[in-house]
Amino acid sequence: MTEKKIQGRDFDIDDIAVNPTQRTSLGELACSRRRFVTGSMAACLAPGAGPFLLLACSSQPAGMFTDALRPEIGFAPVPVALGDKVDEVTVPQGYTARPFFSWGDKVVNGAVDWRSDASNSAAEQELQAGQNNDGMHFFPFPDAPNEHGLLVVNHEYINDTLHTNGPTISENEQGHKQRPMEEVLKEQAAHGVSVIEIKKDDAGQWQKVYPSRFNRRLTANTVMDISGPAAGTTAMKTLQDDTGRRVLGTLNNCAMGVTPWGTYLICEENWKNYFVNRDQQDWQNRPAHKRYGIASGASSHYNYWESVDERFDATPKAEQKHSGYVNEPNRFGWVVEFDPFDPESRPVKRTALGRLVREGCTCVLADDGTMAFYSGDDTRGEYVYKFVPEGKFRADAPAANRDLLDKGTAYVAVYHADGTGEWRALVQGENGLTAENGFTTQADVLINLRGAADVVGATPMDRPEWVAVHPQTTDGYVTLTNNYKRGVDPDQPLNAANPRADNDHGQILRWREFDQNPAAKKFHWELFLLAGPVLQTQPKPGEFAALEGDRFSCPDGLWFDGDGRLWIATDYDELEPEYAGQGTNQLLCADPVTREVKRFMTGPVGAEITGLTGTPDGKTLWFNVQHPGLSYPASDGVTRPRSTTVVVTKDDGGVIGT
Ligand code: FEO
Ligand code: CA
Ligand code: CA
Ligand code: CA
Repeated sequence: MTEKKIQGRDFDIDDIAVNPTQRTSLGELACSRRRFVTGSMAACLAPGAGPFLLLACSSQPAGMFTDALRPEIGFAPVPVALGDKVDEVTVPQGYTARPFFSWGDKVVNGAVDWRSDASNSAAEQELQAGQNNDGMHFFPFPDAPNEHGLLVVNHEYINDTLHTNGPTISENEQGHKQRPMEEVLKEQAAHGVSVIEIKKDDAGQWQKVYPSRFNRRLTANTVMDISGPAAGTTAMKTLQDDTGRRVLGTLNNCAMGVTPWGTYLICEENWKNYFVNRDQQDWQNRPAHKRYGIASGASSHYNYWESVDERFDATPKAEQKHSGYVNEPNRFGWVVEFDPFDPESRPVKRTALGRLVREGCTCVLADDGTMAFYSGDDTRGEYVYKFVPEGKFRADAPAANRDLLDKGTAYVAVYHADGTGEWRALVQGENGLTAENGFTTQADVLINLRGAADVVGATPMDRPEWVAVHPQTTDGYVTLTNNYKRGVDPDQPLNAANPRADNDHGQILRWREFDQNPAAKKFHWELFLLAGPVLQTQPKPGEFAALEGDRFSCPDGLWFDGDGRLWIATDYDELEPEYAGQGTNQLLCADPVTREVKRFMTGPVGAEITGLTGTPDGKTLWFNVQHPGLSYPASDGVTRPRSTTVVVTKDDGGVIGT
């Protein structure tokens, strides 16, 4: 989600930094100690150290990260798209991009057509595509994997465009914001996930199959199970759910993941914004609220559903069973697994992975079935995590894989300045996660995984977004989208992995597990690139020249295709002065060996680009145009804008990117 403004509405939805730990990380210490040894290290952590910093603080074995096969990247890059009237998607010559799946499109059988005045009811919205298409994945049918499959698309949040005349907001006598029930129900119905069956027609064009027995919508009100160590504990029980094992809906589904056994992992990002706890004292003492940034004032941060739906009012109510809905926020922030091929299946929140403001959940699989699932926690100064299941993936025994995500170990990353890193276990009783520190059970650790990561000394990062895993080397890559308070606010000191003060442009960091073992406790890492201005001259203090090729800012979406091309989608606000000259948000393609970046696509003004997926043969690519600002995809200047999944093919039928 764009950090500062959404459709002209001024609120910091992503990004109220709440990390209270202001330690110097071990990584910084390592670097500053070396500074005393060699005078040349003096610039080690200074803003403006530029590429020098990368050299000074890196000790990778020669050839690490560049032993991958070089992918063919053959297209002629497109220029930046400047101006506030840009309302189109531009791809290189020889490629065709076409709007494929937009907010309001029919999904569930029985849906009615979308109406361009947004007059569809909440009940109608429940059967149509939601808004803000974000993370997604193409699941092929085995008999025609490049022609037929299911496209699963997250709907992260809603825009004011959902309602004919914008949202209706009033205030009651206590100063609490109030909303009409019908609007709230429509907003809840426009959240969640769509599953659509898609197929190539006789002319080779992708079409949506409708009606289809696979088509499905998950919303903020779909019944879901809770499993793993936190399920059934007191902290998961509410007035509505005496079992602590059953929850309604999923919220703010940003990026995603896919398991080797073919299920989809929905990730719950800024769910914290939907709740309020008006009891200041309780909020102060409740890490599961305060540490995650839940509102403690008059109203929630986002759209005030609590005014008509009591489960979003997390103020404790001693007179009610389980104190009302004080625990409802504990039931969000998880990875939610579901099988897209089984329309009757009930999604499951897997608590073993821990509770975060979770961007995505990307799997790496070793030949012997060992796995890890990587996640970024996207708030300023938060951390990078992995989860290692106890069991191994077995291709020959599908039933054995079903609950693999219920048992395993969560870890958080520590980046040392010498280019090594550690995964520190987030296990009750280890690394200071004791009762004295507030962690009596593993459920305590998982529900407040952020607080646990604070205790073990994780490295605070510049807003970790997507993780991608190289298909050949299994190296992990994470986008650190930006952090304008890094090195400026004393709460956000520089460190080796986040070396730029006032970091408007972001960076991509990559790592390799020791022995390329997903379960390793140590890794090597380096900065892959620093985004931002490409300089024609020697860098001046405060400037960097690490980016080779086409300029971009704020990397967010990140995905490897099967040939090892790294696709980077951006999310910045092009109207803000720091992005002047940058044009609209973009999709770029990078070579992990040479680090060269080429701009593949520019989007409509106001939109973020996200949600990357493709067919196994690499000949179809889908991406999402999220919250376009004008009238995309209609481009008639009249119709309201619709978040849209775009399909890209090469006119000669070749592989995308070649
Ligand atoms: Fe929903 Fe961190 O982007
Ligand atoms: Ca973002
Ligand atoms: Ca987004
Ligand atoms: Ca994102």
